[in-house]
Amino acid sequence: MKLEIRDLQVRFGPRLAASVASLDVDAGEIVGLAGESGAGKSMIIQAILGLAGTAGATVTGSVRLDGTELTGMPPARLRAVRGRRVAAIFQSPALAFNPVFRVGHVMSRTLRLHGLSRGEARERAAEAMRGVLLSPDLLRRYPAQLSGGQLQRVAIALALALRAEVLLADEPTSALDVTVQAQVLDLLRELRDSRGLAIVLVSHDLAVIAELCDRVAVMRAGEVVEQGSTRDVIAAPRHDYTRELLAAVPRLGPE
Ligand SMILES: Nc1ncnc2c1ncn2[C@@H]1O[C@H](COP(=O)(O)OP(=O)(O)OP(=O)(O)O)[C@@H](O)[C@H]1O
Ligand SMILES: [Mg+2]
Repeated sequence: MKLEIRDLQVRFGPRLAASVASLDVDAGEIVGLAGESGAGKSMIIQAILGLAGTAGATVTGSVRLDGTELTGMPPARLRAVRGRRVAAIFQSPALAFNPVFRVGHVMSRTLRLHGLSRGEARERAAEAMRGVLLSPDLLRRYPAQLSGGQLQRVAIALALALRAEVLLADEPTSALDVTVQAQVLDLLRELRDSRGLAIVLVSHDLAVIAELCDRVAVMRAGEVVEQGSTRDVIAAPRHDYTRELLAAVPRLGPE
């Protein structure tokens, strides 16, 4: 699996809201998108998902999955790719689940839309729940009967059940309290290592990025100002803005 982003630009009218000149994501790695609020991180995720247009943006450039161009792909085909090979999780897992359905129902229905039989879907869902260290019994609950951390795990389980190869994670732990945050981040790391999942992790928190990401792109005002291996960027930032971000995380700053 390889996701290749080239000259991706997201505009609202004439204004450039987000752009990435060149970024590759390979199987088994976590690539971070860092930067302050409004930098353009979420718009890049939306553009990869093919959803930026629904927010009123114009997208140009290229997003290829194993060589297949996703930008401009007809909606029906894109839905098949986006729903299965490329999955996404967001800050508020509750918004991803319809409150009137049990989470297992949502998961089964999604799996069946992608061609699984009822029995296969049930089995796949239970197996995916164990993969995120949750009891399959929780599939019988409604979203409101799960904690935020559990619900985010269920959202990740859905991606696993679909056998997604890329997980786009936009501030997936920002709404969770600190201990739960660490558990979900550990889970992401574990899925990268054990299943070769490719993850794009958006966070304004450089401490989170430093802990998890193999590579990072630092965004500011709609552009990537610096990118490289996380270790290099943190040890020797080239851009003043990266230095500023690092200074805000004392334990990452220069000794
Ligand atoms: N629907 C919209 N209409 C016009 N401008 C928008 C819209 N959505 C986002 N923008 C603009 O696009 C730019 C990038 O926003 P984006 O949401 O990607 O930032 P972000 O880095 O994700 O910030 P945060 O950390 O707060 O989530 C911002 O300048 C924002 O104002
Ligand atoms: Mg955002």
